Amino acid sequence: MIAIGCDHAGYELKKEIIKHLTEKGYELLDIGCNGESCDYPVIAKEVADNILNKKCDLGILICGTGAGMSIAANKVHGIRAALCSDYYTAKYTRLHNNSNVLCLGARTIGMGSAMELVDVFLTTEFEGGRHQRRIDLITEIENNNK
Ligand code: RB5
Repeated sequence: MIAIGCDHAGYELKKEIIKHLTEKGYELLDIGCNGESCDYPVIAKEVADNILNKKCDLGILICGTGAGMSIAANKVHGIRAALCSDYYTAKYTRLHNNSNVLCLGARTIGMGSAMELVDVFLTTEFEGGRHQRRIDLITEIENNNK
């Protein structure tokens, strides 16, 4: 299951991503919003919670720039949210960072790029190995800042 959420700026792109992924057979948990003006941290937190409680494997968050969503999601310990606008980053943030949330800026990328970023993010697996040590160091930072 993939958790997906947006604010008002990301709503149109979210609708297209939901259509795209549903056609591919993914199951989605849509956290909102439904186009109304809303506060992106509220949505980011709920997507994050659904990953931490294991209801969802990965998440997608969309706002105008993707920056607000990524800042908010990364405040939740255990969340590694990556703001991506290029294919290489979307791929390597899964391979190397084991990112569990993809953040997109609806006002900064086109529809075609967004679909490619989503596809590569969802189909790329974490490489593990030496990269796990670095993830463990991130967890250590979280644990020391509780
Ligand atoms: C909303 O206008 C905008 O601030 C929001 O979508 C996002 O870009 C924040 O980071």
